[in-house]
Amino acid sequence: MNSKILSLGTLIAGMAFLGACNNSANKTTSNTKMKDSITYGTLPPDSAFEKTIDGKQVHLYTLKNKNGAIMTMTNFGGRVVNLLVPDSAGKMIDVSVGLGSVDAYIKSTERYYGATIGRYGNRIAKGHFTLEGKQYTLATNNAPNTLHGGKKGYQDVVWDAKKLNDQTLELTYLSKDMEEGFPGNLHIKVTYTLTDDNAMKVDYEATTDKTTVVNLTNHAYFNLNGEGSGTILNHLVQFKASSYTPVDSTLIPTGKIEPVKGTPFDFTTPTTIGARINDDNIQLKNGKGYDHNFVLDKHDLSIPIAIVKGDKTGIVMEIYTEEPGLQFYSGNFMQSRNEMKYGEKDDYRNAFAMETQHYPDSPNQPQFPSTVLKPGQTYKTTSIYKFKTK
Ligand code: GLA
Repeated sequence: MNSKILSLGTLIAGMAFLGACNNSANKTTSNTKMKDSITYGTLPPDSAFEKTIDGKQVHLYTLKNKNGAIMTMTNFGGRVVNLLVPDSAGKMIDVSVGLGSVDAYIKSTERYYGATIGRYGNRIAKGHFTLEGKQYTLATNNAPNTLHGGKKGYQDVVWDAKKLNDQTLELTYLSKDMEEGFPGNLHIKVTYTLTDDNAMKVDYEATTDKTTVVNLTNHAYFNLNGEGSGTILNHLVQFKASSYTPVDSTLIPTGKIEPVKGTPFDFTTPTTIGARINDDNIQLKNGKGYDHNFVLDKHDLSIPIAIVKGDKTGIVMEIYTEEPGLQFYSGNFMQSRNEMKYGEKDDYRNAFAMETQHYPDSPNQPQFPSTVLKPGQTYKTTSIYKFKTK
């Protein structure tokens, strides 16, 4: 038997086993305790998100599709709060790991839950880059580097929000010239749609009046077994990525693009997140787990570049994107320091993020696809997170 057939057989057996162990995702699990007062799947009250920040009004917005899927978002940080999609038994599961009020988001030690990220998603080495001969300096908020746009990235600003219809929320923001050290007034529009095929579709658009760098993404934290259901290590993951960008110990790409074959980064066939996460591998040490950019083989929305399956619910998430990279973060910095929507803590590796984007540190790595945006050009990119059961 060749190894491909063997691995497929193992996978099917594994899935059957996981199916047999299936337990209700809204049950309290041994390592997490849900607040007695909050029933799983209940949306936070709108009032928990009413607040004026920086002179702008914050709200909670609810989107619904024809199938009863529900997504809530707040314009504080352009964040996805709830995302309720059906599991294989038709029960609604909240796959978005988030917080229950705007105050909880303000206080959270983890800044990025569900947020729209910019001006530059992921890291820029040592907070410097040069554009058209001029050096720019940014805050090194993730010493020694800049992470997710600096000290006050787009996760902490109030976006202007307009509900276009029951299923669509348009967010706009003017990121002023030299805000967080980036040149150019950047006019941004990010449109979130909950489609009738149970997908969260994100359309990004931006224009600038000075040459700048842009790398927008969304930092939803997912647990396809449902928020509060415990570890994500048994989720099955498959990527259409035959290479990745290895990093140094500060998570800056070394500049090389290396094949995943024969490494714990090979997700070209379905593999659980946990299968190799503790392998003796320098890259896993540098990332404290997975916190790496995968170089996508194709990125034109024609095929899913990532397929992830929750072992307890059977919920499958497919990601489609026009971006060349996917940052896979396995929740390595989660430290049980925040209380999430249903009262449980954000325990280690109880959620993961898959951020569609250009590669980290591209402004300093000319061999990577460019993130430069010039006046007269329009930054335009779409990513789709589709939920099914198979
Ligand atoms: C990204 C980064 C991680 C981490 C998380 C948020 O995924 O790559 O290193 O910062 O955001 O904590």
